[in-house]
This record gives sequence, structure tokens and C-alpha cells, in this order.
Amino acid sequence: MMYVHADVLTGDCRKDMRVLLVHLFWIFTQCAASFTVTVPSSPVLVVRGQTAFLPCEFVSDHNLSHLVITWQRQEDQRVVHSYYYQTDQLDRQSSDYHNRTWLNHNLILEGNASLSIANFGMKDAGNYLCIVSNTKGTDRGIVPLVYAAVYSEPRLSIHLNSPDVTVQYETEGYPKPEVMWLGSGGQDIPYHLEVSSTLDEGLYFLKSSYVTQNPSFNITFFLKNPVAHQEIQRHVIFNFDGNTRSNISVILLSILCTLLLCSTGVLLWLYYHKKR
Ligand SMILES: *[C@@H]1O[C@H](CO)[C@@H](O)[C@H](O)[C@H]1NC(C)=O
Ligand SMILES: *[C@@H]1O[C@H](CO)[C@@H](O)[C@H](O)[C@H]1NC(C)=O
Ligand SMILES: *[C@@H]1O[C@H](CO)[C@@H](O)[C@H](O)[C@H]1NC(C)=O
Repeated sequence: MMYVHADVLTGDCRKDMRVLLVHLFWIFTQCAASFTVTVPSSPVLVVRGQTAFLPCEFVSDHNLSHLVITWQRQEDQRVVHSYYYQTDQLDRQSSDYHNRTWLNHNLILEGNASLSIANFGMKDAGNYLCIVSNTKGTDRGIVPLVYAAVYSEPRLSIHLNSPDVTVQYETEGYPKPEVMWLGSGGQDIPYHLEVSSTLDEGLYFLKSSYVTQNPSFNITFFLKNPVAHQEIQRHVIFNFDGNTRSNISVILLSILCTLLLCSTGVLLWLYYHKKR
């Protein structure tokens, strides 16, 4: 009686296991086929004035009639771009994005909802939602955009106001950079730095200077904008009233060179004559 009971139990267990496996398999296939939106895992850097590209891909059902794509700002729900009824729908588009956005219609059917935004500015930095719905489901992804402006070629000016010599560089970019001035031995030297916002939005105006009473110097201005992966290094070699001194060095150097050349020549002549 006990055995029979046990047999019944094992039979039930096997049946349960089979049912469970079937369920697991069903869940697995459903997960594998479920609808997803894929966006980059890290923020996208966009440089001032360039066209931003916001990647967004989804599992296509190869049916455009049920497809709805909405690009929206996460912070304030502003509509950046939308697409449904197989066309762009820009009635509710925020005026900030008017005439600046486009979807590649040839790629939508393949599951590519990537958006382009022209003339990128500081106000455009932030989080963008890519929301897609079709017969398979609905999903969303967030694309964070980071803004940076490459610093312009630094403009050099040198002011003499005896006994001071002021070396100054001016440039514009974003965000605030790292600045250094180095002496000829590569050592840090003291400097002035002024950073202010310009009237032109999304740029800092930077003015940095080095003041010395030494009439001759060899220094390096160094600027780094890590966000934009930019590094600028400019050397200033200045010699105010060192003409006589440098002339003497040049004369000494040429005498030294002549001596060296002469002795090498004499040695070579001696060497070959001895060989013969
Ligand atoms: C939008 O672009 C079109 C053509 O590219 C142009 O004719 C139109 O004036 C633009 N509208 C605005 C508001 O900039
Ligand atoms: C989506 O389209 C963009 C160009 O618009 C392309 O660079 C990207 O590789 C496409 N993605 C896929 C998965 O085809
Ligand atoms: C200036 O200093 C740099 C090192 O910081 C050196 O490589 C360069 O030769 C120097 N130039 C002159 C003219 O002294």
C-alpha cells in the first residue's frame, strides 16, 4: 500500500516536472522573442554646431501600419520627433526642435529608429527617450547627450610694461578646462586665469596670463578639455634685450663646431694616410 502510494507520488512529480519544463520553455521563448528597444549604454558626446546622432533600435514586426516612434526629452516631456501612420508627425513637436530633426525612413522597417538633430547646442544636452510601439509590444530607451565645445586656437598677446612682461592667451570653449603654465624645465609657474560666460551661449571665454620681469624666457601654455578630448600646448620663447648675449653664444657655438670639424678632418686624414 505504501509502495503504491509512493509510485503515485513519483508519477505526479514527473508530470509536474514536465508541466514545469514546458512552462519554462514557453517563458524562455517568450523572453527571447519579447519586444525590446536598444540604445547605447554610455552617453553620447556631441560637439557644438554638429549634428547629433541618437542611436535607437527595436525588434521590427515588418509592419509599418502599427508602428509608433516617439522621441521625447525625459526632463520635461518636450516632443523632439514623432512618427506614426507611416509618416513624420510634427504637430506636437517642440519649437526648439523645429526643422532640426530627421529619422531615416528607409531604415525604420528594419527596426532602426535612430534620430539626427542638426546644429547641436548647449540647451540640447540632456536625456532623450526613444519610445517605440508595434504589434510585438512597447519599450523605451534613454539616450543621454553630453555637450562640449572645442577650445578655439588660443590668441597670443605680449605686453611690455617695464619692468613687467605679460604673456596672455585668449580662447573660447566648453566646459571649463584645465590650464597650466610650465617653465623651460617643465615646472609649474604661477599664472592668472579668468573664465567668464560669453554672450554667445554655451561658451566660456578664457583669458590666462603669465607676468614676469625676466626679459627672456621659454614657457609653455597648456590647456586640456577632457570632455571634448582636446589638448592644446603652445610654446612662447621670448628674448627681449638678449641680442648681444645670443650673438656671443652663436659665435662661441660656431667656433666650437669649426674646431670639432677641423679636428675630425685632421684625424680622418691621419687615419687614412697611416692605413696606406
Ligand atoms: C525649415 O526648412 C525649410 C527648408 O529646409 C525652410 O524653407 C523653412 O523656412 C524652414 N523653417 C524654419 C522655421 O526655419
Ligand atoms: C541604424 O542606422 C544608422 C544610420 O542611420 C546606422 O549607422 C546603424 O548601423 C543602423 N543600425 C543597424 C542595426 O542597422
Ligand atoms: C624651450 O624649452 C623646451 C622645454 O620646455 C625645450 O624643449 C626647448 O628646446 C626650449 N627652446 C629654447 C629655444 O630654449
